[in-house]
Parts: sequence; structure tokens; C-alpha cells
Amino acid sequence: MRQRIIAGNWKLNKTITEAIELVVLLKRENFGMNPPVVVVCPVFTAITEVSEQCAGSGIKVGGQNLYWEEKGAFTGEVSGSLLKDAGCEYVIIGHSERRQFFGETDDSVNLKVKSALTQTLLPIICCGEVLEEREGNLTNQILDRHIRGAFKGVSAEDAARTVIAYEPVWAIGTGKVATPEQAQDAHAFIRNILVELYSDEVASAVPILYGGSVKPENALEILKKPDVDGALVGGASLKAGDFAGIIRASSEAGA
Ligand code: PGA
Repeated sequence: MRQRIIAGNWKLNKTITEAIELVVLLKRENFGMNPPVVVVCPVFTAITEVSEQCAGSGIKVGGQNLYWEEKGAFTGEVSGSLLKDAGCEYVIIGHSERRQFFGETDDSVNLKVKSALTQTLLPIICCGEVLEEREGNLTNQILDRHIRGAFKGVSAEDAARTVIAYEPVWAIGTGKVATPEQAQDAHAFIRNILVELYSDEVASAVPILYGGSVKPENALEILKKPDVDGALVGGASLKAGDFAGIIRASSEAGA
């Protein structure tokens, strides 16, 4: 059975002190009887301290982005090997905010996915449509492009080590959550692309997370869907109590 994962994307929030405080509070929370893998993704500057705080707790750490070259004259960039060095096991790639504000494309996402896999980081590959695309019935076409683009030239063995996050852009930070049925349909569609690209075996190994306004109150219904293996949580991951509520919902859904 594939892993259930609840990942917190802290985005551009939390000083080092605040980040440590959040992890300290999170470690005191009850994660339920059947807890998922829990990942927190702080800003680069807080990764080392957060990793130290997480050591021995079972909470894993991820970066929010990486650059595909390992080192050299690339001012302002951080590579996968440096993320590993700071304590990361995961890295978010191709988040819609990166696509929207920082010129991320399917090609750069692909280079980053390959680089993460080479560095043995587990990529959390984001995909999802904007509102006009959903309203224009283009959701599947966009997901097809994002997924095929991200996995271009990635071997089956490597693909089996990835995580996908379906994040409808209209649901991110808006309070508008996709219905459990909309999430299930998109996840099943994505899994089917993996069957086409690779095999049933690879498709059933890859956890597909839902992201977009996940809260403790709406998490369980979404997480109970058969192709929803977890969540990528933004706003609600900034409060230990809310994030733990979502982790417990996963624990319950996975029981
Ligand atoms: P949100 O963000 O939970 O605040 O909607 C999700 C994300 O962007 O990963």
C-alpha cells in the first residue's frame, strides 16, 4: 500500500524562532492511531533549525523549491544537495505560485524533478488548473500537460519515488475547496496517466496529495476518497492545532 502523507507548505512565513516554536507545538500534538508521514516545508533560512527540532520525532522536512544545478555561478539559488545537507528529505516542485510569479515552466519543473531524484530527495510535484481552465473544461488537458512534462525522461524506478500534489489553483488560499468528487476525479485521471507512462505498479505506488484550502473541518471527506493519499496544506499548516487536526483526519481515513 502506498504511503499517506500530510505535508505543510509554510510558504514565505515564519522566522527561525517562530518556525522552531511551531515544531515544538506540533511535536506535542496527538497524530492519531494510524499516522501518515508528516512533512513540514519551511523557508530556506529555517530548514537547518527545523530539521534539528524534528530529529527523532518522525516529522520530515522538505524544501519549497530547488535549482537543478548542483553548484556554481547561480546567484541566489539553492540545489538539492544543499537541501539534503540542511536536513531535507522532500522538496516541493512546480507549485502554482512558482509557476505564476517566478516563471516556472513544465521544462524547468522537469529539470528540477530529475535533479531532486538524482540527489535522492523525494519530489512533491505540483499540478493543477486555474479557474478559467476548469470552467473551460480544460482541467484534464492541463493535468496531462503538467504530469507528462514533469516526468519526461524519468525512469519507472525513479517515478515510483515521487509524490504528486493536485492543487486546483482556484482553491489555493481562497477558502474554496474542491469537492471530494472533484479531487477524486482529478487524482484518478492523474493516476491513469502514470499507468500510460509507466505501469499499474508505478501508478499505484505514487502518493497523490490534494492541496487547496484543506482544513481540519474538510480534510476527512477528501482524504477518504480512494485516490487521495494525503494533503499539501498551506494556511492551515501554520498553526500546530489545525495541522494536527488534518493529520488526525488522515489517520482516521487510513484506518
Ligand atoms: P492553502 O495552500 O492550503 O493555503 O490553500 C495550499 C498550497 O498552496 O499548497
